Amino acid sequence: MNQVRDDFDRIARLTGCDAGWNHNNHYHELLLRHLPPHLESALDVGCGTGQFARLLAHRADRVLALDLSTEMLRVARACATGFPNITCQEGDVMTLDLPAARFDCIASIATLHHLPYESVLVRLRGALKPGGTLVILDLYQNEGMRGLLRDGIAVPVHLAQRWLHRAEIAEQTPEQREAWRLHGDTDHYLPLSVMRRIAERVLPGAQIRPLLMWRYMLVWRSA
Ligand SMILES: C[S@@+](CC[C@H](N)C(=O)[O-])C[C@H]1O[C@@H](n2cnc3c(N)ncnc32)[C@H](O)[C@@H]1O
Repeated sequence: MNQVRDDFDRIARLTGCDAGWNHNNHYHELLLRHLPPHLESALDVGCGTGQFARLLAHRADRVLALDLSTEMLRVARACATGFPNITCQEGDVMTLDLPAARFDCIASIATLHHLPYESVLVRLRGALKPGGTLVILDLYQNEGMRGLLRDGIAVPVHLAQRWLHRAEIAEQTPEQREAWRLHGDTDHYLPLSVMRRIAERVLPGAQIRPLLMWRYMLVWRSA
């Protein structure tokens, strides 16, 4: 966790509120479509600079934006002025005392691959109210012929999307590229088949769906 915290502290020092278009925020609207129009209490796990937390804040009475990195939260707080319903909290989701059955939505984007999958899903399940929704967007390890085929389609789609969003893409500085490269060296992803097996045990009925641009989405509604 110290390595992850250091990596994101370094990245955050080079980051502002507007991330520009990227493979994560490309799917924000899709995630929002799986959530009810009004939420009392929402949690964003690994909020980073808080872009998704700010979207949640438009439909939630209260949003808790949680992150391990002090520097990410410094940026998230600066970007959340004008959102009195967002609370930014520093903490490790694996050790924090998460209140039981508190949130009617828990979201997490590009974060769970840093964590032991089964244990974090158990923790998030416990913090969700009955009837609440868990939405996860994250990366996964491609496998098999299907994975190769998906890659074959994803590359031209990625290039087309980059062209369509060219005005919104923030060009990375060499320092930003290096910070992400160093972080990427320690990242690793689980195959979808493994995550599906774990989700079947922990979140019966969860839908896990691969998305084109090297991401998957998990949606689960608690009974
Ligand atoms: C790739 S960033 C994604 C940030 C944001 N969700 C987004 O989509 O832009 C992953 C974030 O997860 C945070 N993170 C990693 N492990 C965490 C943990 N155990 N508890 C809380 N946050 C964590 C990191 O500090 C980082 O800000």
